Amino acid sequence: MNYQGVIHRYRPLIHLPKGTRAISLLEGNTPLIPVPNIVEELGGGFELHIKFEGLNPTGSFKDRGMTAAITEAKSRGAKTTICASTGNTAAAAAAYSARAGMRAIVIIPAGKVATGKLAGAIAYGADVIQIDGSFDDALSLVVQISEKHPIALVNSLNPYRLQGQKSAAFEICDALDGAPDWLTLPVGNAGNITAYWIGFKQYHQKIRTALPRLLGVRAAVAEQIVLGHPVENPETIATAIRIGKPARGEEAITAANESGGRIISATDDEILAAQQMLADSGIWVEPASAAGIAGLKKMIENSSYNPRKKTIVCVCTGHGLKDPNIITNQFSTPCILAAELAALEREILNG
Ligand code: F0G
Repeated sequence: MNYQGVIHRYRPLIHLPKGTRAISLLEGNTPLIPVPNIVEELGGGFELHIKFEGLNPTGSFKDRGMTAAITEAKSRGAKTTICASTGNTAAAAAAYSARAGMRAIVIIPAGKVATGKLAGAIAYGADVIQIDGSFDDALSLVVQISEKHPIALVNSLNPYRLQGQKSAAFEICDALDGAPDWLTLPVGNAGNITAYWIGFKQYHQKIRTALPRLLGVRAAVAEQIVLGHPVENPETIATAIRIGKPARGEEAITAANESGGRIISATDDEILAAQQMLADSGIWVEPASAAGIAGLKKMIENSSYNPRKKTIVCVCTGHGLKDPNIITNQFSTPCILAAELAALEREILNG
């Protein structure tokens, strides 16, 4: 086996203390899937690839950063990790902590975490604590407790998280033989867009790849955040990015500006329509993960951007299985037939 996860694959580029032993689940190496049907729907004439991060070991891009954060925490003898989470960070922290033999504590906003994520955190053995508050409240609590006690904070405020997450930018440049013209992705706490920009700039300096423009997409309710006005308790169907005060908001704005890109927002309806477009191409993602496509569609339809002949990569950050209820709550239960051929023929042939 020659594939060894992001730390081994990009070791010289990922800054970790010397002598660490990687705690890995062979994360990364996710596919770039072409989606010609979506290209047609958006007017045609360009290339669009989905970087499907839902195919990481715990079902989201968080595994890239978590391998690095847990590797560093373990190497300095930490016994316990803690994070605030809308769910995916929790599942990744739980899995990598389990692998490292560490206790994981995850703090989540009560009732606002999708089933697949909560189940993951529990399955991997984390101590799950719900708070009567938002993600932003949870983040403030874990920052305070980790400053006071020897508990390793593994939210993306931890710089090693970004070190791991930037590997996705390297993979994209390697796969495309250069950077795309645009990279579009959802923005929540803003760690991921910050990490991508670090990665693209590093490759640019090292091997002279071009730099992409970044299109960060927030849930519409939280649009003001990016403009510097925090929102208390934002509401959105995209619970993964239900964040009113992104910890790396300033860096996200800088990254978008430096790249010549922008940060925009998409409404719940636009996000759900984009989730359906992706599913129609065989790619099922959780709602937040569809924000990149929703934003791209908006940018093209507003005629503010002509994508002709361009190469665009859309990062789909988490798998649809993370949040099955979004789908199951909408459909009526499939019919139940007698287990007889005649009944089946009647049902499917007489349509
Ligand atoms: N997409 C998904 C599926 C996420 O879970 C998150 C963040 C984002 C996008 C946004 O990434 O925060 O780096 O801007 N989820 C965090 C969590 C907040 O706790 O799982 P970001």
